[in-house]
Amino acid sequence: MMRPALAVGEALRQRAAVSDAELDQVFPDELRDRSHLHWTPVAVAIRAAELLAPTADTRVLDVGAGVGKLCLVGALVTGAMWWGIEQDAVQVAAANRAAWALDVTHRTRFVHGDGSRLAWDEFDALYFYNPFSTVMLAPHASPFLRYATIRATLRRVEQHLAAARPGTRVVTFHGFGGALPPGFTRLAREPAADDALELWIR
Ligand SMILES: C[S@@+](CC[C@H](N)C(=O)[O-])C[C@H]1O[C@@H](n2cnc3c(N)ncnc32)[C@H](O)[C@@H]1O
Repeated sequence: MMRPALAVGEALRQRAAVSDAELDQVFPDELRDRSHLHWTPVAVAIRAAELLAPTADTRVLDVGAGVGKLCLVGALVTGAMWWGIEQDAVQVAAANRAAWALDVTHRTRFVHGDGSRLAWDEFDALYFYNPFSTVMLAPHASPFLRYATIRATLRRVEQHLAAARPGTRVVTFHGFGGALPPGFTRLAREPAADDALELWIR
């Protein structure tokens, strides 16, 4: 039998075992089949949160936050503040609802928009789970438009990263689709689920 959302949140706070199937109950049924391919698994999110937020005053942004799984787990296992920006309004609504169910609305914020167009200077740490391969275009959009949109997005992201403050942390899972600009040093690469978590610091 599955525990209620508050008990699942409390278990994560206590670092007790919580499966993905159990946490995913806080998200709408019709979105849950995305979990396996598109959402950070719980165990990976816990480790990513440790790498992103070593102190409670850290402000973290998940660029392409989906239903907010990374931010929600981060808010439960660290004292930091977690922001997610997501291009799909349905997933933003699901993230806000899940934050309420898990009682972490005071340390999470989810906004709807294009993460590559947001100013990132308010944040100390950034998380990318290979977000930019999922572009929201009309179904009949040409492959050329799709490719050009991804390239333009990655150019903006690389420009943001090139302007990041010293000390900015970047954690990737499955990379972000581009290259970290000069000035970033990779401090860790750890196996995580079917890929790796990488920690980069400016
Ligand atoms: C692989 S999922 C990762 C979800 C979440 N970060 C996690 O780890 O559970 C990538 C998400 O990025 C979103 N995305 C892609 N491009 C985006 C953009 N330019 N701005 C905001 N969100 C974007 C997609 O809609 C998708 O929900």
